[in-house]
Amino acid sequence: MDAMLVTGGAGFIGSNFVRYVLNCRPDTQVVVLDALTYAGNLANLEDCGGTERLRFIHGDIRDRDTVDDAMRGVDTVVNFAAESHVDRSILDPSSFIEPNYNGVCVLLEAARRLEVQRFLQVSTDEVYGHVPAGFSVESDALAPRNPYAASKAGAELLAQSYYTTYGLPVLITRGGNTVGPYQYPEKVLPLFITNALEYKPLPVYGDGSAVRSYLYVEDHCSAIDRVLRSGEPGNAYNVGTNYEVSGRDLAGRVLETLDRPAALREFVPDRSGHDLRYALDCGRIRALGWRPALDFDTLLDRTVQWYVTHRPWWREIRNESGFRSYYRKQYDERGQS
Ligand code: TYD
Repeated sequence: MDAMLVTGGAGFIGSNFVRYVLNCRPDTQVVVLDALTYAGNLANLEDCGGTERLRFIHGDIRDRDTVDDAMRGVDTVVNFAAESHVDRSILDPSSFIEPNYNGVCVLLEAARRLEVQRFLQVSTDEVYGHVPAGFSVESDALAPRNPYAASKAGAELLAQSYYTTYGLPVLITRGGNTVGPYQYPEKVLPLFITNALEYKPLPVYGDGSAVRSYLYVEDHCSAIDRVLRSGEPGNAYNVGTNYEVSGRDLAGRVLETLDRPAALREFVPDRSGHDLRYALDCGRIRALGWRPALDFDTLLDRTVQWYVTHRPWWREIRNESGFRSYYRKQYDERGQS
């Protein structure tokens, strides 16, 4: 049996990846290490219980002893553990540097000592910064423009240095905007869907012209699996789609799909330093045989349906005081100071 450590495995993409591995790699034992901070939720793994192939450890990737315990006997490490919301990083940058950079430092040290065979650092298209035209290729310079993106770019560089200096077999994936089941409802699509379901306004930043390319979470998981199986250590792989959708259109599509009044779309002050476009050239991962299975219409429908049928999951989150105080700060008090 192989053993894989999935850090951040109770978060959004992490929990979907754990489910994917349990289903698609019958000979793999999965160890999840998760600090269960605000967006990590054991309920995300509820349907993965009942198998001896899954072990859960509650702990922080910055804690050396916990990391050693979790990584001992493991062949592969996939690091999803991170604070990931740009708007929160603007409100509180240092809380991003700690786990996203210093945490990766601890993981890499342990991986080197314990001679892990594959270390995959899950990164983001945001490391390229704003891309006004054309498509980012992996050899482009990293030019992050917000604290979250900078923390992820820093972590990549550190991981890359472990490959060059110590020969640690590091792989990096740079994912596009991922959506689907169990996404914490502060990111744009689940926020728009859950607000629409509650007949609350959908806050579109600025004039709504910023575009993102959306990727279904299961496609993101299959891409990571593909890179683990056939990626070349030392390389980064872009993972995305080319369905570019503006914030304005996304809000419109959600309202249309849920049959809610178009007037719920509301334009609010823009995000500071807003990257108006990310766009990935995915030729490198396509050459490994990966393709996204879902087009934009299908991923939107599936995601909307999941939130429609999982109201208790997101209602509990939206009722938490942490979510409510963030929402107040981010939306109700914005532009008023
Ligand atoms: P987000 O989900 O935060 O992802 P990213 O990390 O790519 O910024 O936001 C996606 C896009 O949606 C981005 O252009 C900002 C915009 N957006 C809104 O218009 N309103 C919102 O309330 C949020 C959270 C995002």
